[in-house]
Amino acid sequence: KNKDLKEKLYKINLEAARYFYNNLKSSKIALNYLYSRGIDNKIINRFGLGYSLNEWDALIKHLKNMGYSEEEMSLAGLLVKSEKGIYDRFRNRIMFPIFDVKGRVIAFGGRVLDDSKPKYLNTSETLVFEKGKNLYGLNYVIKNKNLENIIVVEGYMDCIKLHQFGLNNVVASLGTALTTDHSKLLKRYTNNIYICYDSDAAGQAATLRGIEILESAGLNVKVIIVPSGKDPDEFVKNNGIDEFKKLIKDALFITDYRILKAKEGKNIKNQFDKVKYVNEVVDVISKLKDEVLVQHYSEKLSEETGISLNVIIDKVNKNRTNIT
Ligand code: UTP
Ligand code: MN
Ligand code: MN
Ligand code: MN
Ligand code: MN
Repeated sequence: KNKDLKEKLYKINLEAARYFYNNLKSSKIALNYLYSRGIDNKIINRFGLGYSLNEWDALIKHLKNMGYSEEEMSLAGLLVKSEKGIYDRFRNRIMFPIFDVKGRVIAFGGRVLDDSKPKYLNTSETLVFEKGKNLYGLNYVIKNKNLENIIVVEGYMDCIKLHQFGLNNVVASLGTALTTDHSKLLKRYTNNIYICYDSDAAGQAATLRGIEILESAGLNVKVIIVPSGKDPDEFVKNNGIDEFKKLIKDALFITDYRILKAKEGKNIKNQFDKVKYVNEVVDVISKLKDEVLVQHYSEKLSEETGISLNVIIDKVNKNRTNIT
């Protein structure tokens, strides 16, 4: 019974995706929005992008004509019920169908064409869609013959823009919360992950949480740093794909990234900041299992701060016995 309902939801979502796609193809405004953001027709077709009309019940009418019930539309998350009646959840938005690894449409993200809020609206949880268990773009990534690594970005736009420029190993975590389920999903396809979140405060905080989760799953993780308040999409738009490829080459090991973050906003010449910095970095070093790495980063910290190596190693060792 549950299985039948799921099948039904895949079908209704696919029908909605087709409908949105056809809308886009005949909407100059929506197409021009995508073109203005540097998205080309090839990627529109590949990712099946669409447009939801600026009407209250355009999709409902269409799906009714196709023989679907309001109940089914509601279960698929395409319809909203209120006191005043029912209406389309997605209106006047660029539509991004979300596929599972089997290529079935399980949900949508929809972006406004201007600055109104909320910027993105996503399908709420349904029988076939749990947000923390899916990664946007993964269905395309796993088609790669020799997949060496996967790059995880925040947004739909980041993901499709990088694919457009030939990086066919990019997925988006849809917002910033990377989950244990995401890491397990990724591990089925590769052991090597690059995380490339927005360089704003939210993205960087999410990076620190994300690398913990990915590391716990036993994945090798590196961090791609996009300079000065940008996300990958904006960076590529301003600097080109070759510059982005340099960022990939320069990706940091997670320990280096954590140390970099510890240093941010601190002036090492100020003694209070210096003490804080040393303690934070010692915490980072204490978690390392490899003695060679412990030695390496301890020496670096000692050279940088003038605190003797003995003191640092001593602190690390004390920390480690507390941990275990
Ligand atoms: P961002 O705010 O970084 O948006 O959110 P973006 O992807 O750069 O969007 P553009 O470039 O302005 O179009 C990153 C991701 O977080 C989720 C979306 O998946 C978005 O792509 N998000 C963001 C939401 O779900 N709702 C929101 O209101 C905002
Ligand atoms: Mn962001
Ligand atoms: Mn963006
Ligand atoms: Mn962004
Ligand atoms: Mn943005």
